[in-house]
Amino acid sequence: MKTLIKNATVMLPDGPQKTSVLIEGSQIAEIDPAESVEADEVIYAYGMHLMPGVIDCHVHMRDPGFTNKEDFRSGSKACAKGGITTFLDMPNTNPETTSQKMLEEKLMLASHKSLVNYGFFIGATAENMKELKNATRTPGIKIYMGSSTGDLMLDNPAIVEAIFAETKLPIAVHAEDESIIQKNLSECPNTRNVMDHSKIRTEEAEVACVKRAVQLAKEYKHRLHICHVSTAAAVAEFEDHADLITAEATPHHLFLNKDDYMKWGTLVQMNPSLKTAEDNAGLLQALLDDKIQAVATDHAPHEYSEKCKRYPESPSGVPGVETMLPLMLDMVAKEKCTLEDVVHWLCEAPALIYDILEKGRIEVGYDADLTLVDMNKTQTLRGPNLITKCGWTPFEGREVTGAPVRTWVCGQEVYNDGKFDESRPGVEAMFDHSRGGYWAGLDD
Ligand code: DOR
Ligand code: ZN
Repeated sequence: MKTLIKNATVMLPDGPQKTSVLIEGSQIAEIDPAESVEADEVIYAYGMHLMPGVIDCHVHMRDPGFTNKEDFRSGSKACAKGGITTFLDMPNTNPETTSQKMLEEKLMLASHKSLVNYGFFIGATAENMKELKNATRTPGIKIYMGSSTGDLMLDNPAIVEAIFAETKLPIAVHAEDESIIQKNLSECPNTRNVMDHSKIRTEEAEVACVKRAVQLAKEYKHRLHICHVSTAAAVAEFEDHADLITAEATPHHLFLNKDDYMKWGTLVQMNPSLKTAEDNAGLLQALLDDKIQAVATDHAPHEYSEKCKRYPESPSGVPGVETMLPLMLDMVAKEKCTLEDVVHWLCEAPALIYDILEKGRIEVGYDADLTLVDMNKTQTLRGPNLITKCGWTPFEGREVTGAPVRTWVCGQEVYNDGKFDESRPGVEAMFDHSRGGYWAGLDD
């Protein structure tokens, strides 16, 4: 099967170019093919932008164990609608992904249910060092250095240090210092006020934990990725990166802050907590300065009824896979960044950070994971319009310009303007960690 996407503005590694792309089977076969080229299907994309499919390197698809919140089918459909063609899923499912056996069971489950490509982190516990040392088919090890949803917290300093010392896979951390969280909590033990969430999970808690993780990465020369950075102050701890350290920001930490509790209450409760408007600006600047390399959703759906419980019974986390790309394209429309920046943060950087093979760029021989975007389409983000099972968004009512309209996964069109083709599943993303990650790959 050959598909020709004709006359789009194609976001190539060297910059945008008005041209055509030929897909053959699951791969990108030709860029700028001859006028005479033949194809089974021709898509006229004049006026549209063709970008690599988004790689969301931080999601919680809740499968297995919490499929009332999401599952691989609903979550992957939501991804396809949001222009995401590959997701990397976190280990706080039930059972937790803490062994090769569980990892492979999840891969098997996703192979039947997911419409987009997938990969799974292995979670660190106090007991699974052997599994962490030997794990394969994974983007890396996730360490919850502070508590969050689930029971995967690992705040024993000796064990965390041993993982940095003895394992080889990239390490991704949730960095909030548990002792500082507990100290802050003891100062408002009976709080029912969600605003206290940001007084418990403070900038100080994030900075202290990031500092420790950075020290360990440097001491053991171990690659480290800092998930969902929420403060500008934390960025200062790793901006020299030592060719080892990368970080991600989420749309909620870029576009929401403590003032949003007034309007949205526990709906905007997440870990790390929301911080200040200065942090919003600081995180965007850090992305522009390549001090933070990627944007990822931390898609963490919870049912609306669960989120409406009174704090602190309300769970932390917000959904994001359908809203990330529209929100980022809107930043392009507002001239806060360029479309090249968005492609770098959402596609190219995640592929480099986790050594994903043949993804994240529009290049001959790469997988035909592609997203067609209409930079002129304006929409209002609304929970009931979403595919995610949770059906609500912390960005309710925002008007955004720029939207994904069609999505191809391995050459197969899975989403076209509101309609899905569910006939073919996505495939497992492949990782080659000998590539050495973002800083090694950036020079190519
Ligand atoms: O807010 C969050 N929700 N932060 C996390 O680290 C986990 C996530 C979840 O799984 O609900
Ligand atoms: Zn997360």
